[in-house]
Amino acid sequence: MTGSYPATRLRRSRSSAWSRALHRETVLTPADLIWPLFVTGGAGIAEPLAALPGVHRWSLDGIVARAREAIALGIPCVALFPNVPADRRSETGAEATNPDNLMCRAIRAIRDACGSDVGVLTDVALDPYTSHGQDGLLDASGAVANDPTVEVLVEQALVQAAAGADIIAPSDMMDGRVGAIRSALEQAGHHQVQIMSYAAKFASAFYGPFRDAVGSGALLKGDKKGYQMDPGNALEALREVALDIAEGADSVMVKPGLAYLDIVWRVKERFGVPVFAYQVSGDYALIEAGAAAGIGERKALLMEQLIAFKRAGCSGVLTYHAPLAARLLGG
Ligand code: PBG
Repeated sequence: MTGSYPATRLRRSRSSAWSRALHRETVLTPADLIWPLFVTGGAGIAEPLAALPGVHRWSLDGIVARAREAIALGIPCVALFPNVPADRRSETGAEATNPDNLMCRAIRAIRDACGSDVGVLTDVALDPYTSHGQDGLLDASGAVANDPTVEVLVEQALVQAAAGADIIAPSDMMDGRVGAIRSALEQAGHHQVQIMSYAAKFASAFYGPFRDAVGSGALLKGDKKGYQMDPGNALEALREVALDIAEGADSVMVKPGLAYLDIVWRVKERFGVPVFAYQVSGDYALIEAGAAAGIGERKALLMEQLIAFKRAGCSGVLTYHAPLAARLLGG
């Protein structure tokens, strides 16, 4: 209910900083952030990524240091993505189910160093492990075969859970994978391991820098439109989310971020479940490029976008800018 001017002047509550603080509807804290990290082999390595200025691939020692930094900054969770050596990539991505692969070693390293002080979210999909850069197994026609892929994803999730992952995050967009992973986790006794499904993941042009970071970009032939969603579809996104909740997802993700806030809002309104958004590599790169081009101040561009995610209904945001945001928020 709104009165009318001049009895009602909405500018009154905006006229000073203390009043704006008092009336702020949405607040962001470091606890709203999940920090995605790229893992590489070796020791003492910090490889800068040209397409993501300020982001590095870290060897395990660096990953542990970042996990400690997250704890110090009040960031509750890190997300891990491996850059698998070329000789470990294959047509079937078998390295994904190796209990001693880079991902599992990174999980264990964080677990050993940090105990349960930080959550570890792990990506389930085959693209960092396949020689063709697709997220699953190819059939004779070269399309990604759904059901055989799900069988491998289940094994991948199980080795991650056994290594100590807290949240399994399937990003592959195969049908039925959340239910298959949930029942395998239950059977293996991993009752407390969560699933955050990339429920509404769109076939996006904003993933480019990420694919370079995990080394799948140059390998990828074709596109992912046969499994990732069409950017024009919102009702289909709701069906995806409904299925994943029914199959046992604890939380759902919308991805990419900024261009899909309407999807976040609709999911939150419809289902009332915890929703996360992934401010993806292209979103990050655009902020950096915008700041470098003098379009605005990096911090201001970033914080405005992050508050928009929360306003739209997100419980939290995956963002490569997590440490900067947490510092700005006093974490
Ligand atoms: C892989 C995966 C992708 C991202 C997260 N997991 C890329 C893709 O689907 O091609 C993108 C993240 C980003 O761009 O920051 N399944």
